[in-house]
Amino acid sequence: MKIKRDHFCGQLSRENVKSKVAVAGWVKRRRDHGGVVFVDLADRSGVVQVVFNPEINEEVHSTGHSLREGWVVAVKGKVVLRPAESVNPKITTGEIEIQAEEVEVLNVSKTLPFSIEDEIDVNEEVRLKYRYLDLRRPVMQKNIYLRYQVTKATREFLDKRGFIEVETPFLTKSTPEGARDYLVPSRVNPGTFYALPQSPQLFKQMIMVAGFDRYFQIVKCFRDEDLRADRQPEHTQIDIELSFIEEEDIFELVEGMLRYIFKCTKGISINTPFPRLSYQEAIERYGSDKPDTRFKIEIKDLSFLGKEGKFKIFHRVIDEGGEIRGICFPEGFHFSRKELDDLNLWIINQEGVSGLSWIIFGEKIKSPLARFYSPQVMDKVMQTFGAKKGDIVFMVADKKEIACRALGNLRLYLARKFNLIPDDKYNFLWIVDFPLFERDKEGNLSPVHHPFTSPREEDIPLLDTDPEKVKSRAYDIVLNGEEIGGGSIRIHKRNLQEKILKILGIDRLESIDKFGFLLDALSMGAPPHGGIALGLDRLVMLLAGEKSIREVIPFPKTQKAVCLLTQAPSRVKEQQLKELHIKVDLEQ
Ligand code: AMO
Repeated sequence: MKIKRDHFCGQLSRENVKSKVAVAGWVKRRRDHGGVVFVDLADRSGVVQVVFNPEINEEVHSTGHSLREGWVVAVKGKVVLRPAESVNPKITTGEIEIQAEEVEVLNVSKTLPFSIEDEIDVNEEVRLKYRYLDLRRPVMQKNIYLRYQVTKATREFLDKRGFIEVETPFLTKSTPEGARDYLVPSRVNPGTFYALPQSPQLFKQMIMVAGFDRYFQIVKCFRDEDLRADRQPEHTQIDIELSFIEEEDIFELVEGMLRYIFKCTKGISINTPFPRLSYQEAIERYGSDKPDTRFKIEIKDLSFLGKEGKFKIFHRVIDEGGEIRGICFPEGFHFSRKELDDLNLWIINQEGVSGLSWIIFGEKIKSPLARFYSPQVMDKVMQTFGAKKGDIVFMVADKKEIACRALGNLRLYLARKFNLIPDDKYNFLWIVDFPLFERDKEGNLSPVHHPFTSPREEDIPLLDTDPEKVKSRAYDIVLNGEEIGGGSIRIHKRNLQEKILKILGIDRLESIDKFGFLLDALSMGAPPHGGIALGLDRLVMLLAGEKSIREVIPFPKTQKAVCLLTQAPSRVKEQQLKELHIKVDLEQ
């Protein structure tokens, strides 16, 4: 490189007029105006206009003329004010331009598959294949920079509070966080496998037993699960663990940390403490354990419709121990008969419930149910919601949780459809009082969080008699309807940990094989401790106003867990498999 850069393109302004500068970057655009060539040169800081004028230097002008989009060049020249008619108020360097006196082509480029612009019309697969170009786009540079700022603010905050960052291994033993493990075969121990950690859960507990008291780590976690817009096979957590604390300490810490992150990165002041909602209330009012509370519509109990009137289906559901739940959308949301039929089909297919009933409170009540109920009962429905003429109520009858979840999804679906969700709000929420266990599809008890979560002290006797009634000391943190974190106060005594593993159907031998080191550690002076993990990708996604975490992850994978840039995962050489004592049988 003959020209040594001394300024970033986007930094130049009026203040640099008359000085000589050297910049380097990529040709964004080149325009030829009757002999004078204009080039927009871009680097990570922005764009500056460079003018190649044959009257200043014939040879430099001719190089300027040959430049193409995507070429890498360095330019030296004088900063001058643009003529008034070509000032561009939209960009920070819009008042000035550089008169090129020297130019050096550092590299050429093939025609790019898409332009390096914020708005591009290409599908995501092309963007991921050429991720290095995609990341060159200003919007992506901004997202990745924001991600860096969030991790920087996190480290600053936790450092001030006396936390230290400790690394934990990637080649480790599987810990149950509910997903499948990514396995790594061991060459030196044939037939055995490491698991990539689904989270550093057990290690952070070990760090507490080791007396470090306040740990954090910004760390990759690996989970082989079905992918969605907010899930990746490898995601990053801000993991935190503390000793000698209770729930309130964690809430105060995390609220303070998020306040600091929002202030530093976006200049936004968020209100603390965050509201809290019990798991049960979240399900009953919003049909979700991660409710979006940015809009008001809530689910209400209409079970009286299964006791009064003559609508047989509702009566049957109530007799079978179910409930009738409803939500009300205010006047202004018009649904044609066809739209109502489509919603009915949608909810049946999507939620597996038997159907969606509705009542429109117009001048006259319109509803397939109207003939089964007296006007007084219909009034009672209106009163339940404080509904007005013109409002529409949707109802689902089923087991309580199923009915609520179905309506919760309908609530979100319609709120999105009718643009009810303000995008300038940040609504945080703690969800507390989770049950410790739930029944899985096979009817077995499984942990709602993970098996190391402490039950509430007062519920311990219920472990023997009615484990499903036991509440845990777990908490989730929700932002705008996304679960951005979860954690708990942990079990710190061996007996209780053994008991929970036993209830989960992990017998003594298996628990010693799998968790022997944890049980040992708990019997050697483990302090009371607890912690949390925030999903960094989801947090940055929400801060960036993006809809998918792939927009804030430099090199993400597709829904099929493929990296389109490197084509991983891929076949490996037969020799590598042999060394690992692995035979691949694709027939199976
Ligand atoms: P949990 O499983 O709730 O807790 O994970 C913590 C947070 O990590 C984020 N997250 C994900 N983000 C993107 N892709 C994924 N596949 C993914 N999975 C999880 C979520 C989630 O809230 N060991 C416990 C924490 C603890 O108890 O301290 C744990 O991992 O935002």
